[in-house]
Amino acid sequence: MITKELEEIKASGLERRLTVIQGAQGPVVNIAGQQTLLLCSNDYLGLASHPALKTAAMMAVERYGTGAGASRLVSGSMEPHHALEERIARFKGTEAALVFNSGYQANLGLITALASREADIFSDKANHASIVDGCILSMAKVRRYPTRDINALEKLLKRSSARTKLIITDGIFSMDGAIAPIKEIASLLGKYNAMLIVDDAHATGVLGASGRGTLEHAGVHDPSVIQMGTFSKALGSFGAYVAGSKQLIEILINRARPFIYSTALPPAICAASIAAIEIIEAEPERRERLWQNVSLFKRAAQNANLDTMNSLTQIIPIITGDTTMRISKALLDKGIFIQGIRPPTVPHGTSRLRVCISAGHDPEALKKAAWVIKETCNEFN
Ligand SMILES: Cc1ncc(COP(=O)(O)O)c(C=O)c1O
Repeated sequence: MITKELEEIKASGLERRLTVIQGAQGPVVNIAGQQTLLLCSNDYLGLASHPALKTAAMMAVERYGTGAGASRLVSGSMEPHHALEERIARFKGTEAALVFNSGYQANLGLITALASREADIFSDKANHASIVDGCILSMAKVRRYPTRDINALEKLLKRSSARTKLIITDGIFSMDGAIAPIKEIASLLGKYNAMLIVDDAHATGVLGASGRGTLEHAGVHDPSVIQMGTFSKALGSFGAYVAGSKQLIEILINRARPFIYSTALPPAICAASIAAIEIIEAEPERRERLWQNVSLFKRAAQNANLDTMNSLTQIIPIITGDTTMRISKALLDKGIFIQGIRPPTVPHGTSRLRVCISAGHDPEALKKAAWVIKETCNEFN
């Protein structure tokens, strides 16, 4: 059965493979002995190998050891988890927060805790797979609306008579870099008695004047909006959070199965995440450098006539269609690593190179990369 399944995957051209990187994440990495420009990492602020995060983690290992022992409800809840929750709640400006082991688990836990069979969930069609899976697990009725289409969302809300109405959207969409219309969505909440979850996985540390995420960017100050996000992308660490009211956190501790039934994050990881939040607050210049690099690359890509869709952010797709994986491979041979993204991650006919820009990239290298991408695309089309 497995052999047949694998053959089918290969025959459909959708086989996934791992590319080994020697050493740490960074703007340039070593792949098979070649210095390679890394243009597909979510380490947007270059914190994944920052000395302050490493030191914080090493000191926490000395003090707390490596493992958390069990779920926090079973073997005791360690200080670093609480310290991180206080720190991220302060950063996000919410009453409270709860740490999860990953963004994937946070979405599963959050959605299933809030929505059951009787609920209606309104989910943007471009939402991340972890939201899709959380919706399925919840067994609620799921109404998917065309991405960022506020009119379509309102029509669905109007038709719903469910007592629990839950709207869910990525803040920055992970595969096309567009930004959700949060202000418009938030304006519907009172009228339709709906709740809103914003997935800030790619927006935490990136969007907003001080990097607090999509709500700050949109100027939305509604404390009822539930924010989840990860420590694994711009914060260069690992794990995730849900930030909101104290009551929300209480219900998650009681109902979110990935929180209840999984061993907690290693305490050292929490210490690294705290160090990352400190840096994000203390060094706004990192975010400024990121946005300068984003503008520069976009200009270079546009000059090279590359199609970057609706991206407004550090995630910049380049639509390359059926030849995506061959282009990705050819670029790797030329010293540029950009992962190709294919269905089912993105809709059929929209396979793409997903470029991710970091504050750590050298501007000259980015300019040159845009031209190399163009030249390589031309070789295959
Ligand atoms: C929008 C979005 N939400 C959630 C996740 C999952 O986060 P994590 O990688 O921490 O599991 C991702 C990660 O790729 C994501 O892009």
